[in-house]
Amino acid sequence: MLDHLWTRSSPVELLGATEANVINPAAAAAAEKEISSWLYYTPTPLHSLTELARACEVGAIDYKDEGNRFLLGSFKALGGAYAVRSLALRAQDREREGSPSSMTVACATDGNHGRSVAWAASRFGLNAVIYIHSEVSERRKSEIERYGARVHRVDGVYDDAVRQVKLDGERFGWTIVSDTSYPGYTEIPSLVMQGYTVMPAEAARQRSELPTHVFLQCGVGALPAALCAYYRAIYGAEAPKIIVVEPVNAACLLASARAGALTEVTGDISTVMAGLACGRPSMLAWEILSRGAFGFMSVPDAEAVRAMRLLASGETGTVSIVSGETGAAGLAGFLLANRSPEMRARLEIDRSSRIMVIGTESDTDPELYRRIMDLHDDQVSSFCKNREWSRARSSIAEIAAPSSER
Ligand SMILES: Cc1ncc(COP(=O)(O)O)c(C=O)c1O
Repeated sequence: MLDHLWTRSSPVELLGATEANVINPAAAAAAEKEISSWLYYTPTPLHSLTELARACEVGAIDYKDEGNRFLLGSFKALGGAYAVRSLALRAQDREREGSPSSMTVACATDGNHGRSVAWAASRFGLNAVIYIHSEVSERRKSEIERYGARVHRVDGVYDDAVRQVKLDGERFGWTIVSDTSYPGYTEIPSLVMQGYTVMPAEAARQRSELPTHVFLQCGVGALPAALCAYYRAIYGAEAPKIIVVEPVNAACLLASARAGALTEVTGDISTVMAGLACGRPSMLAWEILSRGAFGFMSVPDAEAVRAMRLLASGETGTVSIVSGETGAAGLAGFLLANRSPEMRARLEIDRSSRIMVIGTESDTDPELYRRIMDLHDDQVSSFCKNREWSRARSSIAEIAAPSSER
C-alpha cells in the first residue's frame, strides 16, 4: 500500500513567491466577485457524508459537489471561463481605444476544460478552437461543439494535444487558454487557478470549521495547486493538509515528488479517470505543490469506480450523488489511504480528522456512467483491468454519431 504514497519528511515550506503571485487574497476575492456576478451563479452544495465518516472512523467527510456548476457538469466552469472573461474584458478595452478586438481563444482538453473555454467564449463574444486527443469520447466532443467551438482531434494523448495547440496557436495568432503552464507561459494558467479558489471560499462559508485534510484529484495539478495556495494564503499555519491524488498510470506529480524535480511520465497513461490522464505536470502547479502539499498518492482505476458507485448508493449519509470517474477520484484516494493503517498514520488521519473532497464532475459521459452503474460489484476490477471502459467509448461513439457529426 505504501507504494501508492509519498509524504514529506520535513514540514511544508513557507509560502513561496510563485505561490503568493499566483494566488493571494486580492486575486481570489477578485475572481469570486467576477464569477459570482455571472448568470446562474450559485454556490455548489457541500454534502456531509456522515455515515461514511462513521464507518471510516473520522470526524467528518464533506463532499463539495461541483456537478452542477453553471450547468456545465464540472468545476472547470470556474477556471477556463474566468480566464476567457478576463481576456474578453481586455479585448473590449482595446476596442474602446480603437484597436481591433476580435480574438480566438484555443486550448487542449480531455473534455471539461475545453467545455468551459468554449462556453465562456460563446458567452463573452470570442471565437474558440479546442484540441482533443484520441481518447476523448464523442459525447464529450459534442458537448464542446454545442457552444459553437471548432474541435480538432489530435492523435495521441493529452500532452500531444497541448503541444499541437501551442504550435498552431503561434501560427494562427490564437490566444492559448491553458490550464497547464510552462516556462514563459504562466499568466493565463494563473487566472485559471484563481477561478478555482471560489470552491474553498464557498466551502469555508458552508462549515464553521476548516477541514484538516483535503484530498484532491490531480491531472496537470492546477486544481490541487490552486487550493493548496489558497488555503496557505488565507489561513497560514491553520491551512489543511493537501493530499494530491492521481491515477496509477498517470501519477506525474507523485513521480515528481519522489524525484524532487518536475518529472514527466510517458508510456500508457490511459485511465478511466479521463480528466487525470496527463503525463506532464503544470510548472506552476509543481512549484506550488512541491512546497505546500503534504502528500502525493496514486489510485487504481477500480478504486475510482467503487467510489462512484458508493456515492450513487445513497448509503454515505446523504442523498445519492452522481459523480463521474474523475469526479470521484479524490474520495477514492481518501478511502484507499484510510483502509491502510500505515497510510492513515503517515497522513496523520485520526478520529478527529475532518476530510474534504471535491466531486469535480458529474456524469460528463452519461453512457459510460450508466455502464459503470450497471456493473456487479465483482465485475468492477475486470472492467478496469480489461480496459472495457475504453471499448465503452467506441460504442458511445457509435451511439453519438448522428448528432455529433458536423
Ligand atoms: C473533472 C476533473 N477533475 C479534476 C481534474 C484535475 O485538474 P488539474 O488538471 O487542474 O489537476 C480535471 C482535469 O481535467 C477534471 O476534468
